[in-house]
Amino acid sequence: MLTGTLGLGIGMSSVQPAVGRTKSVDTSSIARTLSLTGNQVLYHVQGIKQPIKVLHVTDTHLFLDDARGEAYSQYSGRMAKAYNQTAHWKTGNPTDPERAFEETLAIAKELDVDLLGLSGDIFSFPSEAAVEWVMERLEKSGLNYLYTTGNHDWHYEGMEGTSHALRATWSEKRLKPLFQGNNPLMAAQEIKGITFLSMDNSNYEITSEQLDFFTKHRQAGKPIVLLVHIPFYAPGRPVGFGCGHPDWGWEVDKNYELEGRVRWPKEGHTEVTKAFHQEVFNSPNLLGVFAGHVHRQTVDQISGIPQFVTAPNATGAFMELDFLPMEERDLALFSQK
Ligand SMILES: [Fe+2]
Repeated sequence: MLTGTLGLGIGMSSVQPAVGRTKSVDTSSIARTLSLTGNQVLYHVQGIKQPIKVLHVTDTHLFLDDARGEAYSQYSGRMAKAYNQTAHWKTGNPTDPERAFEETLAIAKELDVDLLGLSGDIFSFPSEAAVEWVMERLEKSGLNYLYTTGNHDWHYEGMEGTSHALRATWSEKRLKPLFQGNNPLMAAQEIKGITFLSMDNSNYEITSEQLDFFTKHRQAGKPIVLLVHIPFYAPGRPVGFGCGHPDWGWEVDKNYELEGRVRWPKEGHTEVTKAFHQEVFNSPNLLGVFAGHVHRQTVDQISGIPQFVTAPNATGAFMELDFLPMEERDLALFSQK
C-alpha cells in the first residue's frame, strides 16, 4: 500500500532550449494537490467546476486467438503463453486476463467513470479475435475510452521491420477500431475542464508531430493529464522507464533477441524524444503522467510533476483517479496568483 500527499506549486523557471524550443516559460501554475491511497489518486484542482472520475487500465495482456491467428503462430507463440493465469491483485486467487478485463469494465460501469484510459499492452500480440473481443465489450459497456498502444499490442515477435513500421502496420490492420477515428499516435479529449492526452511512446520514442501536438496543449494552458505506455526517465530508474532515459540504446538492450525485434539504436534517443521529456516536465499545467509497461505500481515526482505507473490489469489491477474542484479555503493556501 502506498500512501502520501503531495502539494504541488511551481513558480517561474527557465528552460534550456532543445531542438529550438521554448527558452523560458510562464510557469504560473494551476494550484493542485494530490493524495495517493493504495490504487486511488485524489486530486484537487484549481479552476475545474465538476468532479471527474477516471479509471486507468494498462497491461491486460489478452492472448485469446482463433483459427485466423494460425498463420501467425510462429510470431505469437511466446506471448500467447505469457500471462495465461495470474494471481488477482487483491485476493491472490487465480485469475486470467479475460476475467480481469471484464471485472474492470464492470467496476468502471459501477463507478460511472467519465473516462477509461487504456494505456497499452491490452493485448499480448495483435490477434483479430482479441481485438474483436475487446471491442464487443467496450461497445456494450458504453464507456467513454481513450486507447494508446503498448510495445506488445502491435508486435508479432520475430517479424521483420522497424518498430515504427510494424506499429503503423498493425495499428492499421488490427487495432484500428480502438482508436475511434483518432490519430493512433496522439489523441486529446477534454472532459469537464481537463484535457486528457493519450500518446503512443510504445517504441520508447516520440515523433516530431507528437512533440508539436503536446506543445500545443501545453501552451493552451488548461489542465492536462498525459496517458502513455512507457514511463518517462526519472533518476535512479532502470531503462524500463525508458522514454527519455539517457542510458537507453544498443548497449543496454538485453531482450531484443528474446522479443524478436530490432535492437535499440546505437545512438540512443532522438533529439525529439529528449526534447519531449524536457517539455513534459516543464509543463506547469500538467497534472500528472499515467503509464504502464513495468508491471508494478510506482510513483515518481519529476520537477514537481507526478508520474504514476499502474499495476498490470492482467491481475485485475487498475488505478482510480478522482479530480475534484479545489475549495476556496484551499485556494487561499495553494494558489500562486
Ligand atoms: Fe506489459
